[in-house]
Amino acid sequence: MNVASTIRKIMGSGRPDGDILASLLSLTDPSDEERLFKAACEVKRERLGPVAHLRGLVEFSNVCARNCLYCGIRRDHAIRRYAMSAEEILSCARFALENRYGSLVLQSGERDDPEFVEFVDDIVREIKRQGDGALGITLSCGEQSEETYRRWFESGAHRYLLRIETSDPELYARLHPADQGFERRVQCLRSLRAAGYQVGTGVMIGLPRQTAEHLANDILFFSQMDIDMIGMGPYVLHDETPLAAEAVNTPGERRRRLSLALRMIALARIVMPDLNIAASTALQALDTGGRELGLLAGANVVMPNITPREYRGDYLLYEGKPCVGEDADMCRGCLERRINSIGEKVGWDEWGDSRHFFKRKDISS
Ligand code: 5AD
Ligand code: FES
Repeated sequence: MNVASTIRKIMGSGRPDGDILASLLSLTDPSDEERLFKAACEVKRERLGPVAHLRGLVEFSNVCARNCLYCGIRRDHAIRRYAMSAEEILSCARFALENRYGSLVLQSGERDDPEFVEFVDDIVREIKRQGDGALGITLSCGEQSEETYRRWFESGAHRYLLRIETSDPELYARLHPADQGFERRVQCLRSLRAAGYQVGTGVMIGLPRQTAEHLANDILFFSQMDIDMIGMGPYVLHDETPLAAEAVNTPGERRRRLSLALRMIALARIVMPDLNIAASTALQALDTGGRELGLLAGANVVMPNITPREYRGDYLLYEGKPCVGEDADMCRGCLERRINSIGEKVGWDEWGDSRHFFKRKDISS
């Protein structure tokens, strides 16, 4: 395969041939892989500029009613549970504002009881009030009713992340208990769109039994769903979860997952140039420079963790999560240096919305 001409063929195509994507995901020559990353990074810099947008990530509660087989905060895992107070969350929001991050991501384990829905609603309104609306708010609080999604949107959240985890229903069923259905999750993505959000989704990469064809179909799924943002990263084992028993965890296998995740980022960027794509924290769990590698492969968003240190050790979705012992401001300094070191700037004070969103027919017409 001539990689350069294959890349040209799929550039901006929106819906490329799945076989071509699968073959690019299966490249074996390191210089071909390098070509792929470079092409994706060029597309990003031409279309969106050499700018990384920040979202301060607040993991505000690890209480979770669900039992995903891969996740370290699943219901059946006996860990210390916490829920940050409103005041603690507001203080993180002030930190993000003062440090010019521009946006906040509020993420938590999944609950849909009325108290939780109300709590999130109040927090969103209070953050908007406190900063005169200056901070953009992204929510990542799992599957909810369309009514809840609408309520939170009206209160001021304008982006929502809900990973599909895999677009293959059979593989999805192997990763989740029977009461966590695939169709409901797809329906949630539709409800989010109907409620007016910029919608983000994504997958885990390098899961047991996942093939290059599955991953190629994931990219086609993003395109078919016309999503605005992608957050995806390598699967990283958590030893005390059921899925870990099925997975290999050698250094070679971890390298393979990292490389596959970077290829997925690059292909998504090449196929859908104007989306926001995050360099996920899981990349950094497999390589200390993982987030920069993500930016160099076409990602344009980084999510520095600003969760207070006392809670970080309890939000362990997987092993080797970075910055667990750090303070938020230490992360800030090291992040800017890292971003500058690869020739990019930080989009201080900007919301950094998905350009794709404003081009969507249902928005622009
Ligand atoms: N490895 C990688 N990512 C994980 N997530 C949860 N557990 C893991 C894991 N073991 C991701 C899921 C979820 C997001 C919040 O974290 O994709 O949607
Ligand atoms: Fe909490 Fe998956 S274990 S949503």
